[in-house]
Amino acid sequence: MKEKLVSYLVCPDCKQSLSLSIVEADGQEIEQGELLCPSCTKSYPIVRGIPRFVSTDAYVKNFSFQWNTHRTTQVDSIAGHSESCKTFQTKTGLTDSELKDKLVLDVGVGTGRFMEVANSLGAEVIGIDLSYAVDAAYLNMGRRVGIHVVQADVFRLPFRSDTFDAIYSIGVLHHTPDTRKAFACLPPLLKQGGTIAIWVYVDAGLYSQRLDRVRALTTRIPQFSLYVMCWLLVPFFRTMRHVPGIKYLAMLVPVSDQGRGLTWDVLDTFDAYSPRYQWKHKEPEVIGWFNGASLKEIQVLSFPVSVRGRKSHA
Ligand SMILES: C[S@@+](CC[C@H](N)C(=O)[O-])C[C@H]1O[C@@H](n2cnc3c(N)ncnc32)[C@H](O)[C@@H]1O
Ligand SMILES: [Zn+2]
Repeated sequence: MKEKLVSYLVCPDCKQSLSLSIVEADGQEIEQGELLCPSCTKSYPIVRGIPRFVSTDAYVKNFSFQWNTHRTTQVDSIAGHSESCKTFQTKTGLTDSELKDKLVLDVGVGTGRFMEVANSLGAEVIGIDLSYAVDAAYLNMGRRVGIHVVQADVFRLPFRSDTFDAIYSIGVLHHTPDTRKAFACLPPLLKQGGTIAIWVYVDAGLYSQRLDRVRALTTRIPQFSLYVMCWLLVPFFRTMRHVPGIKYLAMLVPVSDQGRGLTWDVLDTFDAYSPRYQWKHKEPEVIGWFNGASLKEIQVLSFPVSVRGRKSHA
């Protein structure tokens, strides 16, 4: 982590500033050390370059595994595509002027693929995640200028109110125990006039129900076994889909078929069947959360359910 990050961080419990003690540094990067809260005397370690505000990856062990196994698959600059850039635009609608020279929070950073996009448009980005995906994000992006990675829980974030010019969260909040409550933690962190954009899974009726029925079984399978099964079953079900007569059988177990290659589809299928929490939502419900947080200029983007809004000036 860079020393500058300390000025943005506070104790998640008492919201007081933290003092830094460095054990090991490599140039501008603090590799090992500690952040101490002088007020409540809690301390938060800096391990492998990342400040850690949680002691375990709790219910997101699947994501720790998934994102460290597929550290680079979806990262534009490393994998040589622009899929994450396109997805970022589609699901947040954040414009260059909303990002350039702004302080931005990426909630549920995963491998850091969207942090890369926001940073390339001129934002200083802090990416947080509950899982050890932060280690993948740090390896991918952590040393870049204007990028910070923090391991923290959305329900207990180490930031002051009115800190960020923009906040986005893509595909994350529905993986927490309570999507609405997780969302409610974010608007207070926005500066007045700041923008928040989220994408959460849509409730797609029968399709979602079918997926949830399969997930009720797959979340009981040890994650490595499930991962191996994905490598075997994704090609199988994708092929079945094109066989007349039995193609409807393939619909019983939906697998990813995005035309971005087998590795991407295996990752996506594991992502669909391994999370403990995976809520689905309808547009009016999400708009209600934005209204409930007194956000203005609420906009629903075309990719369901992507919604953005602005915190009004007092
Ligand atoms: C499907 S991944 C999306 C990652 C990234 N936004 C992307 O699209 O590439 C969901 C992420 O949410 C994170 N997550 C789930 N619950 C969380 C929580 N309570 N606090 C912070 N992150 C959380 C998971 O660890 C995981 O990395
Ligand atoms: Zn404290």
